[in-house]
Amino acid sequence: MSESPKGKHRPATVGIHGRGHARRPGDPVVPPIVQSATFHWASPADGELLYSRCGNNPNQLEVSQKIAALEGTEAAVALASGMGATAMTFLALAQAGDHIVASSYIYGATLALLRDEFPRRGIETTFVNPGEEGAFRRALRTNTKLIHIELPTNPSLRFFDPRPVAALAKEVGIPLTCDATFASPVNFRGIEVGIDVVIHSATKYLGGHSDLIAGAVAGKADLIEEVTRLSRLYGPSLDPNTAWLLDRGIRSLDARMARHNTNAMELAEWFTTRPEVQQTIYPGLPSHPDHRVAAELMSGFGGMISIVLAGGGEAADRFMAGLKIACAAPSLGGVETLISQPRFTSHLSLSNGERDALGIPDGFVRISVGIEDVEDLRADFEGALESL
Ligand SMILES: Cc1ncc(COP(=O)(O)O)c(C=O)c1O
Repeated sequence: MSESPKGKHRPATVGIHGRGHARRPGDPVVPPIVQSATFHWASPADGELLYSRCGNNPNQLEVSQKIAALEGTEAAVALASGMGATAMTFLALAQAGDHIVASSYIYGATLALLRDEFPRRGIETTFVNPGEEGAFRRALRTNTKLIHIELPTNPSLRFFDPRPVAALAKEVGIPLTCDATFASPVNFRGIEVGIDVVIHSATKYLGGHSDLIAGAVAGKADLIEEVTRLSRLYGPSLDPNTAWLLDRGIRSLDARMARHNTNAMELAEWFTTRPEVQQTIYPGLPSHPDHRVAAELMSGFGGMISIVLAGGGEAADRFMAGLKIACAAPSLGGVETLISQPRFTSHLSLSNGERDALGIPDGFVRISVGIEDVEDLRADFEGALESL
C-alpha cells in the first residue's frame, strides 16, 4: 500500500487500531479479555444470543474485524487453527459431488485434506502444476466449485503469478482461494490482485510469537457468514484468550514484517556466497524464478528462506545440530529463527520422488528468519556451516 487514501490507513496503523474505536473517558486502551463462554440473555428481546463457540465473543469479533481491515475485505473470521480455517472455507464452497482444482504447491496437511480426506466425503480434487501454461483451465470441470492456491508456496517459496488464474476464476464464475500465510497481509494483499478469499494460519506471522494456534479467512461477507455458520456446527472457534493474544500479536505485525524482510534479504544474499550451500531460494534474489512477479506484487519478500545443502540429508542434519540461536522446530513466522527439514515435517507424507518433483530434495532446509540481530544470526549459520 504505497498511498493512504483518505479514511483508509496503512497496515502499521490498522494492525494497532483496526478500523478504529470511539473512545470514552475511562475506557481501557487495551481491550479486555472477555473470558466468558456465555453471556446473560433471556429471550430474543435481549438481541443476538452471544456464545463463544458462535464466533461473537468480543475478542473474536475484534480480531476478525482487524484481519478484514488488514486484508481489505468486507469481512473475516478468526478460527482455532489454520487448518480449521482452510477446512471450513472448502466446506463452505464445496459439497458432496463437487470438484476442486488446487495447486500442487500447497502445505502438506492441506494437500492431505484434499487428496485423502475429502474424497471420503464426496469431494474430488485435481492437482495442477501452477507453472504449467493452461493447467488450471484444463483441470476445470462443470462441477468445479473453487480454485485453491498458496503464495508464497511452502517450502519452495514459489510466487506463481495469481493474476491469470484469478481472471480464469472470474471468467467461469468460481472463487479463487489463496493461503497467504507465508506472506502475511503486510507483504501481500490478495484481494488487490483478484483473489477472492485469503486464508491464513494465524499461528505464524499474524500471531508472531509461536505461542498460539489460530487461523483466519477473509473475503466477501456472505462467504464469511457461511464459514462462521459451519464453524458453529463443526466447532473450530477461537478461544477468547487466544483471540486476545492474536490481536496483541497483530499490533506489531508491520514492524515485525519489516525486520523479517530485511533480515531474510541480508541472510539470503550471504547464503549465496557459501560453498556449502548448493542453492539459496528466496523471492528477493534475482536468481529466484518468480523474482519479477514477487517484486511487482509483494510489498516485501518475507522472512522465509530455503537452502539446499550440497551434502544432502546428512549435511542438513549436522547443520541443524550445529546451530545455537536458530531453533530446530517446525512452524514459522515467530520472532525467533526456526529451522526445519520439510522431509521430516510438512512433506513427510510424500515419497522421495514426489518431493523431488516439488523441488524439495534431501538436504533442503527451510529457515523462518526471526527478528534477532542479523549479525548474530549470520554468525550462528556460519558456525554451523563450518562444522560440515
Ligand atoms: C502455509 C500453511 N498453511 C496452513 C497451515 C496450517 O496452520 P495451523 O497449524 O495453524 O493449523 C500451515 C502450518 O504450518 C502452513 O504452513
